[in-house]
Amino acid sequence: MDKIVITGGSRLKGEVRVSGAKNAALPILASAILSGGTSTYRNVPKLNDIRTMSKLLSLLGASVEPDKTGHQLAVSTSGIRNFHAPYELVKTMRASVLVLGPLVARHGQAIVSLPGGCAIGARPIDQHLKGLEAMGAKITLDKGNVIARARRLQGASIVCDLPTVTGTENLMMAAALAKGRSTIENAAREPEIEELARVINKMGGRVQGAGTSVITIEGVDELHPIDHAILPDRIEAGTFMVAAALTRGDVLVRDCLPEHLEAVIAKLRAAGAEVVPEAGGLRVRGRADILGVDITTQPHPGFPTDMQAQFMVLASVARGQSVITETIFENRYMHVQELARMGADIHVDGRTAVIRGVKKLTGTKVMATDLRASASLVLAGLVAAGTTEVLRVYHLDRGYEQIEKKLSKLGANVKRARDD
Ligand code: EPZ
Repeated sequence: MDKIVITGGSRLKGEVRVSGAKNAALPILASAILSGGTSTYRNVPKLNDIRTMSKLLSLLGASVEPDKTGHQLAVSTSGIRNFHAPYELVKTMRASVLVLGPLVARHGQAIVSLPGGCAIGARPIDQHLKGLEAMGAKITLDKGNVIARARRLQGASIVCDLPTVTGTENLMMAAALAKGRSTIENAAREPEIEELARVINKMGGRVQGAGTSVITIEGVDELHPIDHAILPDRIEAGTFMVAAALTRGDVLVRDCLPEHLEAVIAKLRAAGAEVVPEAGGLRVRGRADILGVDITTQPHPGFPTDMQAQFMVLASVARGQSVITETIFENRYMHVQELARMGADIHVDGRTAVIRGVKKLTGTKVMATDLRASASLVLAGLVAAGTTEVLRVYHLDRGYEQIEKKLSKLGANVKRARDD
């Protein structure tokens, strides 16, 4: 198993290019099931979660061929004859549930293992199932599997109890091949949902309103394969922007889209960092004095929960106090105890964390518990005195492509090592 070893103190300088977005690539790869042909996806990030989705598609009978760079995938779905997403895969990546809608819509059946609990919360999929049932799918639960069947899904008006990202994506894909019109109200509005709608429309679908809380889908009889480049990862971009502010650095984050990062930019500026759009990206200059900021995570366009842990590190070394409120997931403070091991002063009460900034964090051994928590521990290591070892970095590899190489190119003293 690998670990990341960081010696803190370097000011980050230079340019870093953002990879394709994990949370866009996953539903887009699943959407290939909706057309029977061969689609080509470019700017695909090389991540463990993408490998898991590729493995799942192959298990269903599709073929997934990477090009020599590994950033382009040719996905042929004409060979799909198996409709079962097994627990062994789903337990490693909940986003596997994204094959449920496309399989029922295109093949009339799907057997998908229930994902089970997760480090950051219960994360049920009741909204996914409720929406499919509204479209006429017969849903049964058996031995931990969701079994969904439908001769052909029917258009329906669906009102989600809460905005769910993968729920909206699953239902949007299902409705794309349903008979008639569907509406999804209280839909999630994340940029990855707009991107998936663009992809479905490119395949010949008729989706309108993605990015707003009401999405309308006119079902069509057939969708065709496409060639598509995945949009940049706003959370990876945000993570590097925090790294620049944290280390009092000067970094150009290339290929990110400022319009996807407004809430993050606003909080970085409130913390005293300078953030300026520049050709092809965003430049972030950190200031000697980091100010405490209060944050409440919200569905998009609010402050993203996937940036909460990274901003907690900024607050840990800021002047004054910050209050962070996590409203999306009930258990997304696993990084707090690890940051406390580095000397951070954080008090958690339910969904609220009160952070009193300290002069200095101190490097030590810390344990990654989930994807964004592991990113926050790497960030903390960049500013800690001495050496930090982040263990269990397989969490990090799920969502960051070669983060240690990208950071060392910016001047950080960071490397990957075996943790024997
Ligand atoms: C997506 O997860 C992202 N994953 C998550 O990113 C992200 O944290 C999350 O959206 C919120 O932005 C992918 O896109 C692959 P939700 P998702 O359904 O879709 C509750 C990362 O770090 N809920 O929007 O699973 C749920 O429990 C990952 O890259 C129900 O109650 O999140 C949660 O409290 C982590 N019933 C809230 O809604 C449902 O049927 C939002 O979850 C569905 C969700």
